[in-house]
Parts: sequence; C-alpha cells; structure tokens
Amino acid sequence: MPQKEWRLDTRVAHAGVGSDLVYGSVITPIFQTVTYQHTSDGFGPYDYSRTDNPTRRSLAASITELEGGSGTSVFGSGMAAITALAHLLKSGDHVVLTQDSYGGTYRLFQDTFQKFGVTTTYVDTRNPDQVASALTPHTRLLFIETPSNPLLQISGLKILTDLAHAQGAWVAVDNTFMTFLRQRPFDFGADFVVYSATKYLAGHNDVVAGLVISRSPELAEEIAVICNASGGILGPWDSWLLLRGLKTLDLRLDRQEQNALVLAQFLAQHPKIAAVYYPGLPDHPGGLLHQQQATGPGAMISFRLHEPEFVGPMMDRLHCIIPAVSLGGVESLITHPFYETHRELPESVRMALGITPGLVRLSVGIENVADLQADLSQALHAIP
Ligand SMILES: Cc1ncc(COP(=O)(O)O)c(C=O)c1O
Repeated sequence: MPQKEWRLDTRVAHAGVGSDLVYGSVITPIFQTVTYQHTSDGFGPYDYSRTDNPTRRSLAASITELEGGSGTSVFGSGMAAITALAHLLKSGDHVVLTQDSYGGTYRLFQDTFQKFGVTTTYVDTRNPDQVASALTPHTRLLFIETPSNPLLQISGLKILTDLAHAQGAWVAVDNTFMTFLRQRPFDFGADFVVYSATKYLAGHNDVVAGLVISRSPELAEEIAVICNASGGILGPWDSWLLLRGLKTLDLRLDRQEQNALVLAQFLAQHPKIAAVYYPGLPDHPGGLLHQQQATGPGAMISFRLHEPEFVGPMMDRLHCIIPAVSLGGVESLITHPFYETHRELPESVRMALGITPGLVRLSVGIENVADLQADLSQALHAIP
C-alpha cells in the first residue's frame, strides 16, 4: 500500500523515517551544525541552520504531511510561532480573537502588537453573530481557539471561517489542545494552524516548541521568510526530541482521553465540585458541535470548587498530580488559571470570562487512572 494511503496513526509512528539519504538511518539524525560547506558553484541544499537544518526540515515535512498543509515553520516556542503569524500584519490591521485564548496570546496581541498599530477585539467566538459584528474591512486575521483555554468553550470552525473569508481575513486556529489526530482545521477552510508543540505533540514535558502550518505554499513561504528573518527557530536537538515524541502521539492521546473521561465523571458527581468543563461530558455546552468537528474530547478538564479559597490547599495535597503550568505531557499537571496561566488578563476580564479563583485546570496524563482518581479524592477529602 502506498505510504500516502496509510492511516494517520501509522503515518504518525513513521514521522521522520527515511530522511537520511546517506546511511539509511531509520530515525532522522541530529544534524548539530551551524553551517554547511559550499563550493565555488554555490550553496548546496543548506547554507546556515537558522534558515534550514536537516533535522528541523524532516520534522517540518512530517508535520506538513500529518496536518494536511502546504508547509510548516518550526519555532523555539508556541509564542514564537504565534509571533511569526502576527508579523504578517501591518499597522492599521485588526485582529479578532477568541476571548479566553491562552493568556500569552492575549498579552502578545494586547501589549506587544498594539504598539505597532495592530488593533484587537476579543469576542465570544461561540457566538458567530458577535464575530460577524467584530469583523471590519481592516480585519486581517481571525484567531480561534476551540476548545478554548481554560474553559473548553467550543466555537464553530466552518461558520467562523466562512465569515472571516467573506471579509477577506485569514483564519488561524490554535490546535494545541486537539492535535491533527482529533481536529483538522484545514478541512474547515482555515489558512493557518498553530501549535504550542510543547504540549501534546512533544508530549513529555521536556521540549518547548511551536509550529505554524500554512494552507497554501504562498503563505508557507511568507511564514518561512519571517521565521528566517526573525530567527526564533527550534534547534536540532529539540527538533529531534519533538520528532521522537510525536511518534507515540496516538497512543498517548488515546490513554489520556480514557483517563480524562473517568476523572471528569468522578469530578462531576463530587459534592465539593461546583462545575466541570470537559467536552466529553454529555452536558458540555457545544458538545455536539465539537463532535461534528473533532473526533475526540481531548484530555483537558477544568473544574470549579464551591469554595475558591480551598483550591490552593487542595492542590498542595496532591501527590501524583503535579501542580505545574503546561499541559499535554505524560505526567498529569494541575494549574490555577486565575493566578497562573491567565494572570496576564486584567482581573476584571478574568472574572467576566469565568476565570475566577475557584477554577482549576487539569491536564490528564497517561498514569493509571485509579491512582489519579485516588489522588484527587484524598485531596478533596482533606479540604473542608
Ligand atoms: C493553547 C496554547 N497556545 C499557545 C501556547 C504558548 O506556547 P509555548 O508555551 O510553547 O510558547 C500555550 C501555552 O501554554 C497554549 O496553552
């Protein structure tokens, strides 16, 4: 069977295979070099590792193929990737963003790019009418996170993409929570998919990395030029680690989702929990829409304690689940978005969005779910 007919989980396991044309190494080697010897005839396929590097190129080619885009640029963090996207804009351009996007994305557009004359509007992208009224003739980009971070709110990819395109704006989807195994934004017409590859794609809490995948070769080239010009690239060693992590994405995600469903159900019936946000629960708002555009609920759960002052004491009592920011890795991590991941948002905005002191975000790992449930249970039991 030709390789392009293989199923996605087979292709992900073979990421980077066959890239070494010299020795036939099955795994992409680490080309730990800055520069490449050239002759008087000119450069070979590579000249300088900021511009390109064989390890990074193999990773980029794998991602392009798996995501179904035309080209990928690989960055030193998710924020460097989103910054490269923002560099497509010029003074006077306007951006519309999902209101509870990741706090760092909010800070980047709100503070840094505002200084360059790029204006932003944050809307509830669950509501297409709000998006339609926010779009102006100057809107160049609609930036969507679905499910959003941390409230797992669901926005309609097709309807929003159509609205933005009718206004001549690009659509970028932050697909960090879902990955291409669960949600494929290009199928709904998105122009860019961005990732904090630090999370599920790398998967082992040991690499910080980011990706921009473009729908068209022209946009991919523009991003590659920005990547080379601004220089926030991923080094060869981290590119290799990311390629290695990627191979087990399918296995990890399956296990993480199975665990997440059990924990979400446990939390939903716990008397000290006021609300649980998880797209896999039958009453999750937008759950049906999510099922139409994604093939799994993911493994991020947020929940709210009845008594916000006990969030800290509850987190302190956990033994197996680690209180730490980040998500998507094999170890379960728990965070307090109001004080941690979303502290960049003004307090009034956090409160209005529901990112209140009582909210907790749990990234479910691959541990035995009985241990995770027992850990949560004893920590909740210990608080009043
Ligand atoms: C959804 C989302 N997008 C982007 C980022 C930024 O990525 P990085 O931390 O790799 O710069 C994060 C980080 O937590 C995130 O959760």
